Amino acid sequence: MRGAIFFSGNYGSTEQYAKWISEATGLPIFDIKDTNADPSKYEFLILGSSIIYFRLTIREWAKANLDKLEGRSKLIFSVSGAGASAKLNRWVEASLPSGLLSQMEHMPLRGKLDHTKVSRWLRIILWIGSLFNPDPQASKEERRGFDYMDKSSIEPIVKMIQRYQATQGQLNA
Ligand SMILES: Cc1cc2nc3c(=O)[nH]c(=O)nc-3n(C[C@H](O)[C@H](O)[C@H](O)COP(=O)(O)O)c2cc1C
Repeated sequence: MRGAIFFSGNYGSTEQYAKWISEATGLPIFDIKDTNADPSKYEFLILGSSIIYFRLTIREWAKANLDKLEGRSKLIFSVSGAGASAKLNRWVEASLPSGLLSQMEHMPLRGKLDHTKVSRWLRIILWIGSLFNPDPQASKEERRGFDYMDKSSIEPIVKMIQRYQATQGQLNA
């Protein structure tokens, strides 16, 4: 049973989580920017996406490739500053067609924001945004950055993939 991870991110956190999951499960990884990467070649898919301004960055690609994703996609992990919450679930729901989302589990992971890696303009935009952020902790993080990267947080995802691989192996035996 061949599976693969397709991810979308800008600053490295989503890619890092995709690499850790790949190391633990043996699944190959593809950046959605790689136009040769074809999800229809795989029997099951794990999607990974950062959240930028309340939306999954994978959303346009997911809509454009919907016919290849439906029926194959088993799990999506989001990578964001915010932790698991009803608010985060709403951002994910607003980003993907409901039919696709209903086929997948959603696992929220927390990422990293390193101000030395973003452009000067983005730093200014983040700083202005922080002035209007009603959540004091999130406002501070928007201004100063944060690092919530945690390798152990992939464990439930790895277990789910391994269970899935084992079940499919038995079905194919
Ligand atoms: C411009 C910008 C907007 C962001 N918007 C959000 C947001 O709306 N909600 C959130 O929880 N995190 C937000 N973040 C934090 C990112 O989700 C976090 O840095 C994530 O690790 C980025 O993933 P990447 O390194 O794979 O690009 C934002 C970060 C940037 C730079």
